[in-house]
Amino acid sequence: MEKVLVTGAGGYIGSVLVPKLLERGYKVKAVDRFFFGMEKLKPHPNLELIKEDTRVMPEEIFKGIDYIVDLVAISNDPTGERFNEATWQINHYSRVRTAKLGKKFGVKKYIFPSSCSIYGFQEDIVDENSPVNPLTTYAKANFQAEKDIIPLADKNFTVVVLRFSTVFGYSPRMRFDLAINGMTYGAWKTGRLPLMRDGSQYRPFVHIEDVSEAVIKFLEFSDETKINGEIFNVGGDELNYQIGELGKIVAELVEKETGKSVDIEWYGDPDKRSYRVSFKKIKNVINWTPKRKAEDGVKEIIQKLESGEIDKTIQTITLDWYTELEKWYNLIKELEMYGGILNIKFEKGDL
Ligand SMILES: NC(=O)c1ccc[n+]([C@@H]2O[C@H](COP(=O)([O-])OP(=O)(O)OC[C@H]3O[C@@H](n4cnc5c(N)ncnc54)[C@H](O)[C@@H]3O)[C@@H](O)[C@H]2O)c1
Repeated sequence: MEKVLVTGAGGYIGSVLVPKLLERGYKVKAVDRFFFGMEKLKPHPNLELIKEDTRVMPEEIFKGIDYIVDLVAISNDPTGERFNEATWQINHYSRVRTAKLGKKFGVKKYIFPSSCSIYGFQEDIVDENSPVNPLTTYAKANFQAEKDIIPLADKNFTVVVLRFSTVFGYSPRMRFDLAINGMTYGAWKTGRLPLMRDGSQYRPFVHIEDVSEAVIKFLEFSDETKINGEIFNVGGDELNYQIGELGKIVAELVEKETGKSVDIEWYGDPDKRSYRVSFKKIKNVINWTPKRKAEDGVKEIIQKLESGEIDKTIQTITLDWYTELEKWYNLIKELEMYGGILNIKFEKGDL
């Protein structure tokens, strides 16, 4: 049985990818701080959960591992700006360290999930050879990690960089801070669909099930010479949307599914990020294209909302959750005495 080390395994993508890996007969070591809870991954005989910080995880974790999918990250732009230093440590340092340790311990393949957001702002359609334009801490740390990890590739250690499009769809660790998911929630809950100004910006999207299937396809692709040391954009040409157009599609679908009317609610300063991406390389080299469209994700999220399985809680907005955790951590440190707040450890004296 081959063993996959998945970091950030309890996150949005990890909690969809890990069950798929188990289903395909892999053993999985899931490493995560589990900031979003451990229950996102259901127990399985071939799943080992390890609560650990990837910046310092011990070397024995790497023993006997065949593949690494290094999902760990501070996972979006606003959180990257708010927690700048941690973002460099986790999105750059930790991944380079993990790749180097993987190589040292004889791991066969290392998959690095980067992001199409490193294209930043681009007038033309970009491919893997186009110059990048990382505009945010999140994008800069991803790009630096790509630059430091690709040279580790050699004939015994396959390195694949996957630049994911913005992901959408249901996951046990739900994220409503991703564009399609957030639009669907706003339209469904309040009849107001939040849309980032000015709507003309382009962005590529990919469904969470598709992106997980693509990762597995790369793990199982045996002609290493075609993928080793290579970068692949992950998504589909027809899933490059102009945000304003996408908002209309989501609004119409929510109206159709719920019978309620939906208005667009603009927010923010005009988005400086706009990129249209070519997905020819992934199609040509590993013969993969996404199966699902934006509409499939919207319908499935509506259904999960209507059944009450998911809702927008603070945990579903990454920036808000980490900010809240830090706030409570500081407050608790300040208030804690004798090992607790109200329940403390002490020896009662004679009265
Ligand atoms: N979701 C997207 O749209 C998208 C798009 C492009 C790229 N990506 C990339 O895919 C990866 C996964 O994204 P996601 O959406 O699942 O994010 P997520 O925030 O849901 O998951 C990240 C996980 O990492 C864990 N984590 C954070 N810091 C840690 C640390 N120091 N040690 C151990 N665990 C830690 C968190 O607890 C969380 O479970 C990231 O690398 C992200 O950059 C995601």
